[in-house]
Amino acid sequence: MKKHYLMTPGPTQVPEASLLAQARPIVHHRSPAYTELLLETLDGLKYVFQTKRDIMLFASSGTGAMESAVANLFSPGDRVLVASTGNFGERWIKICKAYQLDVIAIEYEWGQRLNPADIESWLKKDSSIKGVFITHAETSTGVVNEVKKVAEITSRSSAVLIVDAVSGLGACELRMDEWGIDVVVSGSQKALMTPPGLAFAAVSERAWELVESSTSPRFYFDYRAYKKALEKPSPQNPYTPAICTIMALGESLRMIREEGIENVWERHRILAKATREGIKALGLKLFSPDDELCNAVTAVNVPEGIDGATIVKAVREEHGVWLAGGQGILKGKIFRIGHCGFYLPSDIILTLASLERSLLKLGFQLEPGSSLVAAQKVFIEEGL
Ligand SMILES: Cc1ncc(COP(=O)(O)O)c(C=O)c1O
Repeated sequence: MKKHYLMTPGPTQVPEASLLAQARPIVHHRSPAYTELLLETLDGLKYVFQTKRDIMLFASSGTGAMESAVANLFSPGDRVLVASTGNFGERWIKICKAYQLDVIAIEYEWGQRLNPADIESWLKKDSSIKGVFITHAETSTGVVNEVKKVAEITSRSSAVLIVDAVSGLGACELRMDEWGIDVVVSGSQKALMTPPGLAFAAVSERAWELVESSTSPRFYFDYRAYKKALEKPSPQNPYTPAICTIMALGESLRMIREEGIENVWERHRILAKATREGIKALGLKLFSPDDELCNAVTAVNVPEGIDGATIVKAVREEHGVWLAGGQGILKGKIFRIGHCGFYLPSDIILTLASLERSLLKLGFQLEPGSSLVAAQKVFIEEGL
């Protein structure tokens, strides 16, 4: 008999109510029932993004929303700054280059977070920079970037700030309007507790001015089409939306609202803290500095003599727990435990217990139960 537990940083577990919502009869996307669903969903997204701005909703993965921001805001030859802290920062660089932008890339060592002062000094010395791209939670390394500090800097400049919050949104604090972020992009399959397939882009008024002037080729992701469709007497999507996935998202957003976004962030903080304490109690090392870690995912250095992929495979095959390996240059060197979205202490305890058993079998010396005691202490102290 086998059971499966998704503990990856996307896709993530989906609550039963959201899964069942997808089985409801499909409503037509030009009907009043769909308009009602869309408006309610956009309202819920605005709450999670902490924004009153327009939100575009696409049938795509998060990368689609990233591409949409590049295509809609900039024209070939425009100078932009990308502060890259890992795999997903690199993705910004690749997309910007694909759209023939003039990219200045600040590439930090993987595991470090960006230094807002570097962005400030670039913007001071080069007023032709039109946009700054950063990553909120860098899923490949487990760090969270200081988005608020960067937004303070870009708000004082003529450059717009575009934030990839695909894994961070709903797991780590993010306040789009209050912090002054111009564009936030995200996806459905992480902390929003929804199956993959939906992506979002929230766009400030300042960014809209660029949308109007961009000469980059775009069609499916053209923000103007989405805005026009939303401004109709019965707001809708310009093209056939992923109706069933939106139904699931509606349920998940209802749950997030019910819990309250601050409580959701706090739950993630405690889950992440307990995971880390459990890992440290096993004598394993976290990949990134302790004070820079994000609440969406925990990246762990693979112990000497064991290959990272072996651990991930062993935990999956022996206990049905799906962890993630390292990406890019970290392949085989780290493994990652996702805890963004529909997760509770019981999920962390189960994951640590499974990890302990597999590590023991692989010959790693540890005290059985030590990670569980450490994690339990956090849950008890923090009251989760
Ligand atoms: C920070 C970040 N950005 C972008 C993406 C890409 O999202 P998708 O795989 O949905 O295209 C991911 C997915 O893991 C991510 O974690």
